[in-house]
Amino acid sequence: MSNKYHIITFGCQMNEHDSENIGGMLENIGYKNCDDKDSADIVIINTCSIREHADQRFYGVLGQLKKKKLNDPNYIVAVGGCMMQQEHIVETMKEKFPWVDIIFGTHNIEEFPGLLSTYMEKNKKITEILPDREEVPELLPSSRLYKYKSFVNITYGCNNFCTYCIVPYTRGREKSRTMDSVINEVKLLVADGVKEVTYLGQNVNSFKDPDGRDISDLIYETNKIDGLERIRFMTSHPKDLSDRLIQAYVDCDKLCNYIHLPIQSGSTEVLKRMNRKYDRDRYLDIVRKMKKAVPGITISTDIIVGFPGETEENFADTLSMINEVRYDSAFTFLYSIRKGTPAGKYDNQIPDEIKHERFNRLLENVNKITAEKNSEHVGRIEKVLVEGISKNNKSNLMGRTEGYKLVNFPGEESLVGEIISVKIINANTFSLEGEVL
Ligand code: SAH
Ligand code: SF4
Ligand code: F3S
Repeated sequence: MSNKYHIITFGCQMNEHDSENIGGMLENIGYKNCDDKDSADIVIINTCSIREHADQRFYGVLGQLKKKKLNDPNYIVAVGGCMMQQEHIVETMKEKFPWVDIIFGTHNIEEFPGLLSTYMEKNKKITEILPDREEVPELLPSSRLYKYKSFVNITYGCNNFCTYCIVPYTRGREKSRTMDSVINEVKLLVADGVKEVTYLGQNVNSFKDPDGRDISDLIYETNKIDGLERIRFMTSHPKDLSDRLIQAYVDCDKLCNYIHLPIQSGSTEVLKRMNRKYDRDRYLDIVRKMKKAVPGITISTDIIVGFPGETEENFADTLSMINEVRYDSAFTFLYSIRKGTPAGKYDNQIPDEIKHERFNRLLENVNKITAEKNSEHVGRIEKVLVEGISKNNKSNLMGRTEGYKLVNFPGEESLVGEIISVKIINANTFSLEGEVL
């Protein structure tokens, strides 16, 4: 009987993809995936530290695991990810959770099977955190979450140091893969049935391979791959979004008419203090160009409310930005102090009540526009990649439009993995309803 692993992932798609790789490596040494943490032999928690809430959820999970671990010394608990790249957290782990067996970081996921076997041979706890990585990992095995779509990392790390953000400290300096190895990986994925790839990086627009090829070159090249149907990428940093990349949307039929373009704040003053390196006008200029080049493009964004020093007037700029751009969707966040970041030390932190009050107003605005934008789709025919059975209604299928909108519709399971035409017959705030043509 083979051993079973269970992975709990917090955080972004980069982390999800790391978990796919950890799973793939474990399967290569004979482990089997298992849905339930209690019946697994080893549980791995891949942590995120983007906001305090993420840290707290992790500690909550550890609380749940403690009893089982203490009753069953053979049960292995391993913890990795962004939280572990911070010294103060590793200290807390040693003080408060000494029963965790293996602690590793974001820069050595490829060494996880090795750490595990050392742990088993010596039966001794291991903590191995590297400060950064020299080289990016290539072609790690992957236990893919989805059969027909896949993430592909193109850059690692981040050099932007937005003043609120922990990522540059947990993911190290920015590094790009070579374009050839990325293309090679996509070809292998396509041969394995993948129809849609999403290129991943904290700032994919600054992808630059050792031969000087950039994200536009990569997209033009990817567009030529036979059998691949859809290309997406995220996240785009507005400061690096070039006219050539906008042109790629026009020239490359496989590049989906969708962009996630985080604004963070609509106030030039706040953007400056966030160190975002663009202002309101430049951002709006990019949006205008994108909408002109790609009519009907879906645009989503990230917004932070209550950044230190944010005035009511600054916040009003964010609200007006939303009304100007009319985002299809927006991920909204309460500013969260991150230890070790510049903004964490600012003394003009915004009181919680004000943050929450602004957050509610923001959400109301965002949801209203999202619902309006979704209702514009009613009556249209959309190409949908069928991903599987719908979560809420087991007799429905679910899939995504080219613009990344979620659609639920009745249909045969045999359609899973196909790109089909669906007529949109109803719109909700967070999804569309359709019927197969
Ligand atoms: N690299 C991406 C974002 C990565 S983090 C980019 O630059 O857009 C995802 C989102 O989390 C960010 O866009 C930001 O909106 C939010 N975020 C990051 N740090 C935060 C913090 N300290 N408090 C609240 N939200 C934060
Ligand atoms: Fe964080 Fe800014 Fe880098 Fe995005 S670009 S990961 S928000 S520092
Ligand atoms: Fe979280 Fe790290 Fe991603 S902090 S958002 S898992 S890069």
